[in-house]
Amino acid sequence: MLRVLSALCLAALLSAPGAQAMKLKDYHKEIMTNEQGKVECSACHGEAKRKSIPKMSACESCHGTAAEMAELTKRPEGAGHSVEPNPHDSLHYGSDLPCTYCHQEHKESKVYCNQCHEFKYPKMKR
Ligand code: HEC
Ligand code: HEC
Ligand code: HEC
Ligand code: HEC
Repeated sequence: MLRVLSALCLAALLSAPGAQAMKLKDYHKEIMTNEQGKVECSACHGEAKRKSIPKMSACESCHGTAAEMAELTKRPEGAGHSVEPNPHDSLHYGSDLPCTYCHQEHKESKVYCNQCHEFKYPKMKR
């Protein structure tokens, strides 16, 4: 009985946020891992001891500004309703939405717009 309990405690400890390397997306894993095989949390979380949602500027330092992202995923001129709208430059929010409203890191990503819409965005890596 005691053994079962301590195994459970250990499992709980290991799954507590921050107690072990948090799972990263496949597309980030390699570049965020240093030569010692340790994940560089600071790439997104800076030097913060208690980790919370990263600042948008952390993402922008590698991916370019929100405006540049908007340009990258710009829809063809006159495409109208034949394509889903540019997620990085929307009618309501322009380019102001924090990246992490849609791109999550340690869990499945979800599109913020879909609280109200039903966009599919097949190209988005979740
Ligand atoms: C240290 C640099 C770096 C930081 C910081 C970083 N990324 Fe990345 N990210 C990359 C690289 C390199 C790739 C893989 C190449 C690519 O697809 O651009 C990537 C891939 C991605 C992809 C997948 C792109 C695709 O091909 O569909 C998304 C989405 C993404 N990053 C979002 C974010 C978000 C959101 C943040 C902030 C929380 C962030 N990244 C922080 C470097 C970075
Ligand atoms: C409203 C939701 C939303 C927000 C906010 C958002 N993205 Fe995206 N992002 C998407 C979707 C959806 C795609 C899929 C691409 C498409 O449909 O053109 C995507 C694609 C990407 C890609 C891959 C682009 C490509 O085609 O190579 C990167 C990199 C990326 N986003 C980074 C960011 C960064 C950095 C920010 C913040 C500056 C950000 N995103 C903000 C929804 C979002
Ligand atoms: C590529 C960027 C990136 C890296 C690298 C990264 N994180 Fe995160 N982290 C995020 C984002 C984005 C969130 C917001 C929640 C989410 O998307 O999962 C977050 C949230 C968190 C949270 C808060 C969880 C919550 O739900 O409140 C903790 C704790 C955390 N990260 C720990 C870590 C640790 C520890 C490392 C290093 C092993 C790390 N992160 C590396 C992007 C990153
Ligand atoms: C809080 C709810 C809500 C969110 C979140 C939201 N929208 Fe909307 N959106 C609406 C409403 C309401 C309308 C107006 C409906 C209409 O005119 O048919 C609308 C209209 C639109 C339209 C014009 C409708 C059309 O068919 O021409 C586009 C494009 C659009 N939204 C894109 C987005 C994108 C992209 C996002 C995410 C970045 C987003 N919306 C997030 C509620 C929302």
